[in-house]
Amino acid sequence: MALTEEYAEKSFDDETFMEISPADFFYRNRDLAGFNNPTRAIYSAIRELLENSLDACELYGIPPKILLRLSFEGGEKADPSSSTYVLKIMDNGSGIPQEFIPSAFGQILFGSKYKLRQVRGTFGLGGKMAILYGQITTNSTARILSSIGKQEIYEFNLRIDIQSNKPEILGRRVQENADHWHGTIVEFTLDGDYPRAMPKILEYLQQTAMVNPYAEIIFIDPKGRLYRFESVTSKMPAPPKEVLPHPYGCDVETIRRIITVTTCPNMLCFMSRHFHRVGRKIAKNFLDYAGISSDVDPAKLNSDEIVRIVQMMKSFTGFLPPDASCLSPLGTELLEAGIVKELEPEFVSIEQREPSAYSGFPFIIEVGVAYGGNTPPGSGFTLYRFANKIPLLYDEASDLSRRILNEKKDWKRYKIQQDMPIAFFVHVCSTKVPYKTVGKEYISDRPELEKEIRNGMNSVSRKLSRFLSRKISIEHDRRRLNVFNRYLPKIAQFSTDLAPKKRKVPDVNPLLDRLRRYQEEEA
Ligand SMILES: Nc1ncnc2c1ncn2[C@@H]1O[C@H](COP(=O)(O)OP(=O)(O)O)[C@@H](O)[C@H]1O
Ligand SMILES: [Mg+2]
Repeated sequence: MALTEEYAEKSFDDETFMEISPADFFYRNRDLAGFNNPTRAIYSAIRELLENSLDACELYGIPPKILLRLSFEGGEKADPSSSTYVLKIMDNGSGIPQEFIPSAFGQILFGSKYKLRQVRGTFGLGGKMAILYGQITTNSTARILSSIGKQEIYEFNLRIDIQSNKPEILGRRVQENADHWHGTIVEFTLDGDYPRAMPKILEYLQQTAMVNPYAEIIFIDPKGRLYRFESVTSKMPAPPKEVLPHPYGCDVETIRRIITVTTCPNMLCFMSRHFHRVGRKIAKNFLDYAGISSDVDPAKLNSDEIVRIVQMMKSFTGFLPPDASCLSPLGTELLEAGIVKELEPEFVSIEQREPSAYSGFPFIIEVGVAYGGNTPPGSGFTLYRFANKIPLLYDEASDLSRRILNEKKDWKRYKIQQDMPIAFFVHVCSTKVPYKTVGKEYISDRPELEKEIRNGMNSVSRKLSRFLSRKISIEHDRRRLNVFNRYLPKIAQFSTDLAPKKRKVPDVNPLLDRLRRYQEEEA
């Protein structure tokens, strides 16, 4: 009764409604993007900025040279227990045209990567989340310097107006760029817990170096320790090309958007101009299948017809699978170089699977296995997960690759034991990596991906198995040779002593040499 009375005082009219901006949304829900506590936030900030720098180099074929510095605010004089840091990153990437600099760093969901091609950035969010976190924890502004290699370097001092989701420019300066430097410098202050984040940050950098062996990355931490990850090759993977949407990945909204921009007067033109790998012949077959006349003006399609086209696109079997030109996988040589550089294993094997697609999005899986060297031993194997050349360090237990690895039970067949120093590597390259969260930490279960990862793991496991068999037999032979080494001379001596006639002790060395040579040939 009391409850009803309480409610009776309320009226629907009293409710307040409001709209919040995307910046406000992510301010309220920053854990969605990996900024939930000071440890995770400092890791995520470094990660997002580094990924932006790598994208800005790689998309233009520039071998990345990136300097990352985290220092205490106040420099040398700062209290070493301080939790306020200055984060600065400098890259030699493409730079940003000056008119876009403020929005690129001051407006959430603004970016240049909303295209169908493989890049690290996806949401137009990461860099801004780092700056926003700095702003709300230290009330600081961000300093951005950038040049696209022309006469000027532009410097902005800005903050994000969270409520309006707009950059607020507090200062702007133009400097002469005598050397035609191109690149970007980002600097801001944020609260964090570096001591706790340090192991993950270093792991992240090491794994980044592994999948970007052509990049030079230098990190200076607040204690002044310098970590240098050198490039071991000047070869870079071919940059990804932008592609049109594949019919299997289209929904009603995609079609509507294309209709608003197309200049095609009829459906035959529409279908063969705006979709990935659809030429006139396939377009004609599809229209016949969908029961739509080739002459219909796309602008005149009504809602039902658009829905029907989308449904028909999903069931039509005559489309070609997406090609992989929009992807930029590492390739076996580069991935091997990266792994060898960071782990120095005794054995490594990499396999790049054939391109495949899920829901119209092409993907390529690269799988590897390493044994020995600095590969950490442990139960259940170390798993290194990468997506579009980004290491994924959190939520491994929920990741598709970990599930596949755990479900694989036939290790005995491969002569593999779970406590051996073995690491598996899974690299997912796609125009749309099926992450489960905007924090980009783990890959969701997709049967198409699962099949490729599983087959890749089986294939590299077989190669590892062959290596282990040989290793075991070489080890066995070595032990045998040791026994011979030790006992043959003694046996020769004893037999001579026992012989009825006095003889010279036979020389066993030629026999041992023969055994040694035989073993070397085997190895
Ligand atoms: N270091 C950089 N060099 C060049 N462009 C950059 C750099 N950092 C950010 N940008 C630009 O700013 C945009 C927004 O970055 P970000 O907020 O991290 O989102 P995303 O990387 O998902 O697009 C990028 O799309 C890119 O165009
Ligand atoms: Mg980004």
